[in-house]
Amino acid sequence: MRILVNERGAQRLLSRHLWVFRRDVLSGPEEPGLYPVYWGKRFLALALFHPESDLSVRAYRFRPAKDLEEALLENLNRALARRLPALEREPEGGFRLAHAEGDFLPGLVVDYYAGHLVLQATAHAWEGLLPQVAEGLKPLGQSLLAKNDAKARELEGLPLYVRPLFGQVPPAATVKEGQIRYRVDLTGGQKTGAYLDQRDNRILMERFRGERALDVFSYAGGFGLHLALGFQEVISVDSSREALRQAEENVRLNELSLKTVEANAFDYLRALEKAGERFDLIVLDPPAFAKGKKDRERAYRAYKEVNLRAIKLLKEGGLLATSSCSHHLTEPLFYQMLTEAAQDAHRSLRVVEKRGQGWDHPILLNHPETHYLKFALLEVL
Ligand SMILES: C[S@@+](CC[C@H](N)C(=O)[O-])C[C@H]1O[C@@H](n2cnc3c(N)ncnc32)[C@H](O)[C@@H]1O
Repeated sequence: MRILVNERGAQRLLSRHLWVFRRDVLSGPEEPGLYPVYWGKRFLALALFHPESDLSVRAYRFRPAKDLEEALLENLNRALARRLPALEREPEGGFRLAHAEGDFLPGLVVDYYAGHLVLQATAHAWEGLLPQVAEGLKPLGQSLLAKNDAKARELEGLPLYVRPLFGQVPPAATVKEGQIRYRVDLTGGQKTGAYLDQRDNRILMERFRGERALDVFSYAGGFGLHLALGFQEVISVDSSREALRQAEENVRLNELSLKTVEANAFDYLRALEKAGERFDLIVLDPPAFAKGKKDRERAYRAYKEVNLRAIKLLKEGGLLATSSCSHHLTEPLFYQMLTEAAQDAHRSLRVVEKRGQGWDHPILLNHPETHYLKFALLEVL
């Protein structure tokens, strides 16, 4: 059984993009699963396939293989081998072990939190393979939780559930990150529990000293905890009460001082501006405002608004650490947005560092969707 695609689908796979949409599939099996993809008689790739999903074909290998499952699990082993030195160096750390398309493992994410593993699978083909995936992960963790409660699963008709695949899953794990420790709510947190893609950018904050720092869209204290090592006053703002409760727990765990504020970031920044407040450093780590191409314009305006407000709140020579995790706000658009915000604020922005997602969230240049996180450290003059 094979999948036949049209010329447009074939061109995508030949360019080594991993996705072919349903409209470009000429024929395919009735059942979801792993299949070879052809353009006429020409072999193109091996792929995870779902006949009803819009995103029908997700390639994982561009060479044929005898055993299709084994070939996919080989990709998992390769991803784990890349992370192993880091795990051995920092067993109490937090790392992404499998980064979906970036590791040729479409729809599969596995995160490591100080010896406890959390998995999320959003493609149907993974469901039957979970026992083998768990077997492959066993040497790396004491427990593995399948946190299969992401809405995206419904697109492939998959049930939503959270259940352990091996070991005793504790309610939370304590992860070491730079000089900070933080608790990760394994069963109830956002995503798999933490935003590991910003790990190295958060550690970067330990470099700075000053009077006042503001961490906007803080989640469980992420950037703010590192800032509290070097700043006299740190304020962390988030709209989620539960995230701030975790932030307060993390503040106690590290014996630091940090103020949490439950608010809509847009309103809070406006209020700070009105009150004439000033900061030495501001972090902006908003959620993905652009979920699809169609909301790019609205998202652009939202990113610009928070950045403009933050720029106005910074002292001369202050630092803006700003990010966007929307793939649809591309890197050129991200810097254009920042330039416009600076122009509107009549301030200059000097680039200190241009960064992005951590090394354990690999980017495939041929599959631009794998590049989603932009992070800029800028001096405001
Ligand atoms: C990308 S996460 C932040 C991750 C965090 N900086 C870290 O390093 O762990 C985005 C956060 O923004 C919060 N959020 C979403 N919309 C918001 C809004 N309008 N105002 C304030 N917080 C918001 C979410 O609750 C979430 O915690």
